[in-house]
Parts: sequence; structure tokens; C-alpha cells
Amino acid sequence: MKLNNMKSFYITTPLYYVNDEPHIGHAYTTILADVISRFNKNLGKDVFFLTGTDEHGQKVQEASEKRGVSPKEHANEYVKRFKKTWKDLDIDYDYFIRTTDEDHKKKVKKILLSLHEKGDIYFDEYEGLYSVSEERFITPKEKEEGDFREIKTIKEKNYFFKMSQYQKKLIKHINDNPDFIQPQSRRNEILGFLKKPLNDLCISRPKSRLNWGIELPFDKEYVTYVWFDALINYISGIGWDEKDNEKFNYYWPANYHLMAKDILTTHCVYWPTMLMASNIKLPKTIFAHGWWLIDDIKMSKSLGNVIKPLDLANEYGSDSLRYYLMRNMVLGQDATFTLDSFIRRYNADLANDYGNVVNRVVVLIAKYFNSKVPKPGEYNNIDEDLINEFKNTSLKVSKYIKELKIHELAEFIFSLVRSINKYLEKKEPWKTYKDFPNQNEVTATTLYLSIECIRVCSQLLHPIMPNKTKIVLEAIDSMKINLNFGQIKSGQKIDSIPTLFPRIEVK
Ligand code: MSP
Repeated sequence: MKLNNMKSFYITTPLYYVNDEPHIGHAYTTILADVISRFNKNLGKDVFFLTGTDEHGQKVQEASEKRGVSPKEHANEYVKRFKKTWKDLDIDYDYFIRTTDEDHKKKVKKILLSLHEKGDIYFDEYEGLYSVSEERFITPKEKEEGDFREIKTIKEKNYFFKMSQYQKKLIKHINDNPDFIQPQSRRNEILGFLKKPLNDLCISRPKSRLNWGIELPFDKEYVTYVWFDALINYISGIGWDEKDNEKFNYYWPANYHLMAKDILTTHCVYWPTMLMASNIKLPKTIFAHGWWLIDDIKMSKSLGNVIKPLDLANEYGSDSLRYYLMRNMVLGQDATFTLDSFIRRYNADLANDYGNVVNRVVVLIAKYFNSKVPKPGEYNNIDEDLINEFKNTSLKVSKYIKELKIHELAEFIFSLVRSINKYLEKKEPWKTYKDFPNQNEVTATTLYLSIECIRVCSQLLHPIMPNKTKIVLEAIDSMKINLNFGQIKSGQKIDSIPTLFPRIEVK
């Protein structure tokens, strides 16, 4: 039995709606979660990575009606697409949750029932502005701001969650826990939002208007509001309310709920107050990254400007897409996607720097040392400089990961890769080998250190680019992660490696 959760690490992505094809935006959050998971596994954590789909609600009901299939059939097809995309992008999640899973529905009902019994859910008539596109009531101010579409005035009886009564407690929690909402700018945004009185949350929809949802356990005429249903996945997906809560207690509270800034309020206000009302601890960090933009506008199906991740992955490989997305977005800020910048990044970092150094060193070891790792001789200053650069990499990586500075981490690893290339230029093994054919200790030292540095860099890059680095690590028999310097054994056989990243020629 697992006794403490010092080693546990729980990370989630949003549950994606099943009315949109997976695009680069969805892929980004999911790859990010995968990369953070893999790094944490390498750091010795017991990781649980949850992703899935959000399947109830008006939009899904309408989309399925249009296609003449049942909402569940409609959802099944989209689920297949998401799962295929994640597989092709080498996303190694632990569990894929669907809000239509019986187990999830049962747990949502249980929470609703207990909040209703507790008096935190009440029935009331409400007249207000309703945005069909966002599937929620909005305030007149929100209408003015113009971010909502298909607005109608609706007067109906509904169930409300007493969210307002947790406002003070939530503000205190945010103030007491500086890491609760990240980055800082988003934390400030939420604190600003909480300066105004918080409304109670309408958590039901009458079945006469919408029937594709989880029925309220205390009123058959209503279904649950889609957000109240979907947010609960974060606990239902790790065994909340099962078998002594063993798994749940091990992983909860989540280390990270990842998402983009579009769903900040639901995660930083609705979700924590729902948890407070249920006496469940709050997640450690809610992290909202920026948007991937195309021509300065957010990618979305309705604008028709989506980039399909699989098109790129099929053409250039999943690793290069993963690397580009991690390297080109400063976490927290928006980033612009262009094919041009993708190709530039690919050619410069992957084909030129990493691919080239691997190829160079493996070919030289094959040629001069019969494909066996040579035995190093004495180190000179140039060798020592390189060794020093590779010292404490493990500590540095942990720091970047802890601070979620993934693009800086990628930059750091590539500075190491470039150092190997520079080192080779200085030591010129092709020259030392020719000049001293019978005394190749200097060449041996150079190539020993180079292949060792390639080992470390490939292990560092593995969470970001699991495919190509696996080819390298298998060829040098180094799949077992150990970031300490000097692990590769002299005399060890090195297999040949195909060109990892053929240059993309721009027409
Ligand atoms: N179903 C809700 C989430 C419920 S979570 C309990 C939802 N789904 S969504 O399909 O619209 O996904 C939104 C999320 O997809 C964003 O928060 C982000 O993680 C990702 N992205 C969608 N478009 C994006 C960009 N253009 N850029 C970056 N991420 C984007 O909201």
C-alpha cells in the first residue's frame, strides 16, 4: 500500500468538448501535460496524468441532432479522434475519462445530492441573459464586453449553488497560497474579479430545454449544468469515493490543473467553491497558459483557422511538433503559430544542432574506433570546460520543471547541444586522428566526452521528443535515465543511427 503522497504527482488537462476536431490548441495543453509528466517520472515521482472529453450539453445535443445520430454516438466518434490524435502525438496519459462514464455520472450525482441535502443548492426563479454559445447565464456587463454570442433573455426556475457564500474563504485561500493560481497575472485577474460580489451559480437546465446531461438526483425534470458535471472529473477520475479513497488520497490534491486562459474563472472560482462546499482540499496549482494564435487571432472552429496537429505530425514527425510547441510558447503568454517559424525552428535546432551532432559523433566513432566507445585519456582545459557545463544538469532541470519554465528548459538543453558542436570544432577529432594516427588518446577523449554529452542531452530531451531520442538512446544502450556525468562505458558498442531530422527544404 502507498502510505504517503510525497512522491505522488497528479496532473490534468481540461476535458475537451466533443464538438471540435482536436487542433493545435488542444494538442498544446495535452503535450505540455505529457512533457511535465514524463520529466516528473524521470525525477522519481509517481505520476498520474488524466485527460478526457466533456460530452454533455447543448452544443453536443445540437451537433448530434444535425447529424441524425444520438449524442452518445456522436461523442464516441469524437472520442476516437481525440484518442487517435493523442496516440499519434505520443501522449502517455494514465486515464482517459469521459463525462458520460457511468462511474463519473454516479459521483456527480452523489456530490449534487450531498450539497442539496446540506442546503448549498436551492431552487429559485431567475430571469437573465443567457449565452447559448457559452451555455451559461451572463451579466449585462459581460454582454457589453461582447465576448458572448447567441444571447437570449430567459426566465425560468432553476437550481442554484450558493457560490457566493464561499467568496471570502476563496479570497483568503488565494491570498494565503501564492502558487494556487499561476501565472501571477491570472491570479491578479481572479482577485480583481472577486472584488465584486460573487453571484450564486445556476447549476441546472430544465429537461424541456436540454436533456443531454446528468439528471439531478433530487429532481427528474432537470439535468446538471455542464461545468458542474465536467469539473468533477478531476476527482472522479482518480477514484474519489471508492475503496477507502486510497488512490484518491494518494494523488489528491492535484499538483496541476493545466488549461488556457479561456477557462480560468470556471477553474479558479466555480471549482474551488464546489470543493469547499464538499469539504475536499483544493488543488495545489491551477495553471492557465496563453493562446496559440494564427494571424493574431485565436484558433477556433468557427473562424475556420485551425491547424490540425496530425497534418503536421504526419508530415514532419510528432517529435518536431512537440518540440516546436514547447520551445516557442513562453508559458503564460500568447504565441503565434506559423509554418515558417516551425520550419525555421526545425532546421536550426533539430536538423542542424541535435541531428548533426549525433550523426557526426556516431560516424566518427564508427570510423576511428570500430563503433565502440573509446577510452578517454587525460582531460585538458577544453575538455574540463565541457564537463563543467554538464555538471548539475539534474538540479537545473528540476528547477525549470518546478517553475514550469518549459521553454527555458528546452533552450537550456539546446545550449548544451550547441556546446558539444562547439567543442568538436575546437578539438577537431578528424584532424587529431589524422595528425597522430598511432597515438589517438586525444581523439578518444574527444569522442568519449562527446558521446557522453549526447547521452545526457538525449535523456534530457526524451520527455519532449520521445521517439527520436529513443532511437539514439537505444543505439548507445542508454535508455535508463541517469543524468550524472560519466555513465557511458568505454568499449560499449554503438549502433549506427539514421538521419534523425532531414532538413526541410523551403521551396
Ligand atoms: N470542456 C471545457 C473544459 C472543461 S474542463 C473540466 C472546454 N473545452 S474546450 O474543448 O473548449 O477546451 C479548451 C481548452 O483547450 C483550453 O483551455 C486549452 O487548454 C485548449 N485550447 C483550445 N484552443 C486553444 C488555443 N488556441 N491555444 C491554446 N490552447 C487552447 O473548455
